[in-house]
Amino acid sequence: MQIIKSISELRTALQNRSHGRTVGLVPTMGNLHEGHLELAKHCRDRCDIVVASVFVNPKQFGEAEDFSDYPRTLEDDADLLAAAGTDYVFAPTDDAMYPGGHASATNISVTTLSSELCGEHRPGHFDGVATVVTKLFNIVMPDMAFFGEKDWQQLTILSRMVADLNMPIQVIGVPTVRAPDGLALSSRNQYLSEEERQQAPVLYRTLMDIVHALQAGATSFDRLEHTARVALRSAGFEVDYVSIRHADTLAPATEEDQHYRVLAAAHLGKARLIDNVGLDLR
Ligand code: PAJ
Repeated sequence: MQIIKSISELRTALQNRSHGRTVGLVPTMGNLHEGHLELAKHCRDRCDIVVASVFVNPKQFGEAEDFSDYPRTLEDDADLLAAAGTDYVFAPTDDAMYPGGHASATNISVTTLSSELCGEHRPGHFDGVATVVTKLFNIVMPDMAFFGEKDWQQLTILSRMVADLNMPIQVIGVPTVRAPDGLALSSRNQYLSEEERQQAPVLYRTLMDIVHALQAGATSFDRLEHTARVALRSAGFEVDYVSIRHADTLAPATEEDQHYRVLAAAHLGKARLIDNVGLDLR
């Protein structure tokens, strides 16, 4: 496995190797855990050449967010990626990715989908994600790109971007990897105190309570969301949102829908946790 920091070096390496072979990309911000590695393994199974990027993207962090504190652990990440069968780790500098500064003129914005749910609480976040992923796509030119279902809104936005802009890339969603108690693995879980870590799985359990109610035929979406918010608050969370949506369009759920996604974001101590669960009714 090779660690490459320069865009031109990565382009050359891929041009030399990729004739007639499929290239897969796993974009990450590093500080890797089993969730990220699951993406790399799916990529290894389906593509000839596996590229993982490790880049903490300044453009997707708000001013009051944890950009400077975000854990940077490239050496450990590279070892884990090598063990998962990665061929190239692309770890560019901020200057290489944003030669004109990250406030540069060109911005990719997947409008309506980006302004609600997490977008409402993190203005500009999804533009930062869509812009950096477009840049990574232009640098790597992958055939397939792998993203976690854990960030369902991100996955939906990026799938929509690829369709809208006719990018010749297959976007593949990988199911969320969880700790045995249900908590979705996340780099931000390490901001939790021991006591908060015990409470954290309440987020997943609360989403599952909604899923079970929907399975049982409940259609009072507002009531279910309200009950979930109350449950989370009484467990010590500060809730950004709990919302039942159409899984693909992210429009508010209706009784006619067959595919639901129940999404939530809530703060617990210093950590902002997000999670979501899907439900397909036949
Ligand atoms: P990051 O938070 O590092 O996540 C990288 C990828 O790993 C994302 O596709 C995310 O959904 C996936 N992932 C994280 N935790 C997971 C889990 N428990 N199970 C399955 N997949 C999981 O998401 C980003 O970085 C950035 O926004 C990025 C797309 C790299 C753009 O900067």
